[in-house]
Amino acid sequence: MKLRTSALVGFCLQLLGTDALSDADFYGQSPPVYPSPQGKGTGIWAPAYHAARDFVAQMTLEEKINITGGFKNPENACHGSTGSVPRLSWPALCLQDAGNGVRGVDLTNAYPSGIHVGASWDRNLTYQRGYYMGNEHRIKGANIALGPVAGPLGRTALGGRNWEGFAVDPYLSGVMTAETIRGMQDAGVIANLKHLIANEQEAWRRPYNGTEAASSNIDDRTLHELYLWPFMDGVKAGAASIMCSYNRVNNSYGCQNSKLLNGILKTELEFEGFVISDWNAQYGGMAGALAGMDMAMPNGSFWGSSLAEAVGNGTVPEARVTDMATRILAAWYLVGQDKPDFPKPGVGIHKLNVPHPLVDARIPEADPVLLQGAIAGHVLVKNVNSSLPLRKPKMLSVFGYDAQAPSSKNIDALFELGYESQPEMADGNLGYEAHFSQIASGGVIFAGGRSGSNGPSYIDAPFNALTTRAKKDKTYLNWDFHSGQPSVNPMSTACLVFINAMATEGWDRDGLHDDYSDGLIVHVASRCANTIVVVHSAGIRLVDQWIEHPNITAVLLAHLPGQDIGEALVRILYGEVSPSGKLPYTLAKNESDYGVGGRLYQPCTPTSREDRFPQCEYTEGVYIDYRHFDAHGIEPRFEFGFGLSYTTFEYSHVVVQSQRQKPISTTTTKHASTPLTSLWDPIVTLTVQITNTGANTSTTIPAEEVAQLYIGIPNSPEKQLRGFEKVMLDPGQEVLVTFLLTKRDLSIWDVVTQGWVVQEGRYRFFVGASSRDIRWEGEFFV
Ligand SMILES: *[C@@H]1O[C@H](CO)[C@@H](O)[C@H](O)[C@H]1NC(C)=O
Ligand SMILES: *[C@@H]1O[C@H](CO)[C@@H](O)[C@H](O)[C@H]1NC(C)=O
Ligand SMILES: *[C@@H]1O[C@H](CO)[C@@H](O)[C@H](O)[C@H]1NC(C)=O
Ligand SMILES: *[C@@H]1O[C@H](CO)[C@@H](O)[C@H](O)[C@H]1NC(C)=O
Ligand SMILES: *[C@@H]1O[C@H](CO)[C@@H](O)[C@H](O)[C@H]1NC(C)=O
Ligand SMILES: *[C@@H]1O[C@H](CO)[C@@H](O)[C@H](O)[C@H]1NC(C)=O
Ligand SMILES: *[C@@H]1O[C@H](CO)[C@@H](O)[C@H](O)[C@H]1NC(C)=O
Ligand SMILES: *[C@@H]1O[C@H](CO)[C@@H](O)[C@H](O)[C@H]1NC(C)=O
Ligand SMILES: *[C@@H]1O[C@H](CO)[C@@H](O)[C@H](O)[C@H]1NC(C)=O
Ligand SMILES: *[C@@H]1O[C@H](CO)[C@@H](O)[C@H](O)[C@H]1NC(C)=O
Repeated sequence: MKLRTSALVGFCLQLLGTDALSDADFYGQSPPVYPSPQGKGTGIWAPAYHAARDFVAQMTLEEKINITGGFKNPENACHGSTGSVPRLSWPALCLQDAGNGVRGVDLTNAYPSGIHVGASWDRNLTYQRGYYMGNEHRIKGANIALGPVAGPLGRTALGGRNWEGFAVDPYLSGVMTAETIRGMQDAGVIANLKHLIANEQEAWRRPYNGTEAASSNIDDRTLHELYLWPFMDGVKAGAASIMCSYNRVNNSYGCQNSKLLNGILKTELEFEGFVISDWNAQYGGMAGALAGMDMAMPNGSFWGSSLAEAVGNGTVPEARVTDMATRILAAWYLVGQDKPDFPKPGVGIHKLNVPHPLVDARIPEADPVLLQGAIAGHVLVKNVNSSLPLRKPKMLSVFGYDAQAPSSKNIDALFELGYESQPEMADGNLGYEAHFSQIASGGVIFAGGRSGSNGPSYIDAPFNALTTRAKKDKTYLNWDFHSGQPSVNPMSTACLVFINAMATEGWDRDGLHDDYSDGLIVHVASRCANTIVVVHSAGIRLVDQWIEHPNITAVLLAHLPGQDIGEALVRILYGEVSPSGKLPYTLAKNESDYGVGGRLYQPCTPTSREDRFPQCEYTEGVYIDYRHFDAHGIEPRFEFGFGLSYTTFEYSHVVVQSQRQKPISTTTTKHASTPLTSLWDPIVTLTVQITNTGANTSTTIPAEEVAQLYIGIPNSPEKQLRGFEKVMLDPGQEVLVTFLLTKRDLSIWDVVTQGWVVQEGRYRFFVGASSRDIRWEGEFFV
């Protein structure tokens, strides 16, 4: 039976739990969930809600509405500003990009981007980065930092914004999302977790020319176990705001989808903060207000006096507007912005091409975090013939457009002046190539382009740092950054080739590798027996055109390190630190490995010129990235979690222990949905001893290992990441690593009971150095 029922009918039938219609019968429909739940103010939110309620009680309807919408504030150049409440001396809020550092202003630092942080697998460093980025936002007077990104997760390999988020894995993404939010909010800014949800491609992310935005059609289980998972972590960490997305989900726009905002976010996850529209993602007036959106950006043209009118004529209850204002003010109190030491909103955010007060957001304490963060996301994927680390090389030859800094740091581009007319200037911030290029041929990339980018103090280009080191070591340097077919001095001790892969918000990538860069690498490698390749990339960058070339002895995937690119690289190349990053995605041998017919590779598009309602069917379910490769028996080039070190590690003494007296109840009765709080109860702990065995090899340096735990849950992918720990070990040192598995970690989402359920049965575990380098495996029963 194929029924396309109305959304309302579909919802009633689902409530009744009838078996007559399968999930597929409702595919692409979003059930209505009303009314919008009011914030409760429980847990950490209690004092903030108390204060917010008192304040809102003094506000008129007009004043409450005033703070829910964007205004142009002539005193600053914040990416967004709310209205103020002059009568009660309440300042407007300043909203500023983004989750990788402050964007578009001067005297800030460029932190490593999301993909680089994901590749670090370093919780503490991620917290520290969040804290110092948050501090910079606060000093600049940004109340709300528009990040971090937990969606896109990375379903589409070509996705233009995948680099803004941490990993193509919900567990890793969730941990890093939570650490970042805690860090930012401890520094006193409101984090904005974005984009809810399934904003997995840039193509057709918004309506254009009468064609609606693409609809991400996701079944309930996939939504929970994959795309929503990191948002759960973010909400649990106290995320004070969330951004709803441009795209449609089950054909209902993200910022007016009541199932998502009222149902999943505000009821199921008990989210107490407020929901902001992505910029101009408010496509209608009262629908969003009723569906649970709380703030319209960058302007409130659909709300303002219309919202007051709607309250007057009974379309929107005043309690809904009161709830919007209460949620916004509670967030403001939660992070301490009511304190007199919070700077004037937007105090350091001004147009750069007119005279402006200088507000320096950089503090010395951030410097080690910037450098360590830049180091930590480098992933060494090939190292043969002891090519690395370098040892006082006699002659180094350096090639490739990505080795040097861009020729100018253009303030016009930095601030997006004339953005629409001159996208090539705005792209990548610093005069890089236009968005349609696969590479930024103008120089090394420290971040991807547009709203996830950030403002570097300087760009420590690879060649700068290599030059400094060459002077110290008396190394003779040759270089050629421009030729695609450079001449190579046959006496070179080593040849370094630098390439990149660029991506920018608004456009998906055109490919996962490009002929110019591949040609350059092969050209050098066929003339230099010790060729080392460094790839800066805003996403997955294939390497199969040359990875097995016998003269290519080492390959570093250097991702997007932020401003300290050169020093971080040189420290690794010369063995002052061991590389310790691991891939936060699967690197395939070929594009087609990401899925037959373009699925999981290309964005989806309208099926014809007449198709006004493009549909993205997420029928692969949770089988993306390594889940997909495992399920289809596809051998990746480098698997999820893979990365080499200068030393070796041994895994021993695995012990599994139950944390419970009795086995877990598995009854799936109708009303059995797990209370949110008990989801985080520990059920099983697993310990393993890791030893740095490098004392017995040629390299004897302290090094970090990322120990990983994968679990095979019944009726689920073969293995899914459910624990990791990064540990620093001296040569010969051993340490005991403990993984704690919570109830959520072992659960599946049960669509019938609408709850997380731990199934009875056999659970397999895999402990190792990557998703395929498994050192121990076993099973336990619950
Ligand atoms: C989307 O549709 C699927 C299939 O009917 C349903 O299970 C799911 O709950 C819907 N999700 C949303 C957010 O509408
Ligand atoms: C709304 O905010 C604007 C901009 O800050 C301010 O000028 C105006 O006075 C505010 N309106 C009310 C009713 O407070
Ligand atoms: C976390 O990182 C900071 C900065 O690098 C460091 O000072 C601190 O000791 C680290 N804390 C732990 C628990 O590792
Ligand atoms: C919409 O139409 C304009 C004008 O014809 C065209 O330039 C633009 O490319 C179209 N956009 C899309 C997404 O098709
Ligand atoms: C305000 O937002 C609406 C809807 O997002 C948009 O269409 C409109 O152009 C914006 N108006 C101004 C003045 O920016
Ligand atoms: C109430 O006011 C809102 C906002 O102007 C408008 O969209 C809606 O159609 C009105 N409803 C009625 C019943 O007048
Ligand atoms: C490796 O490099 C040497 C030059 O040192 C060159 O003669 C040889 O042909 C190269 N090998 C390949 C497979 O290109
Ligand atoms: C690397 O080592 C192998 C085995 O020792 C040797 O055959 C090969 O020639 C070496 N390659 C280079 C580029 O030195
Ligand atoms: C690699 O992927 C591309 C793009 O999907 C496809 O056209 C090509 O046939 C694939 N090549 C191989 C060897 O599988
Ligand atoms: C080094 O090798 C010796 C002899 O094989 C062994 O006893 C010792 O445990 C090894 N040390 C490490 C750190 O692996």
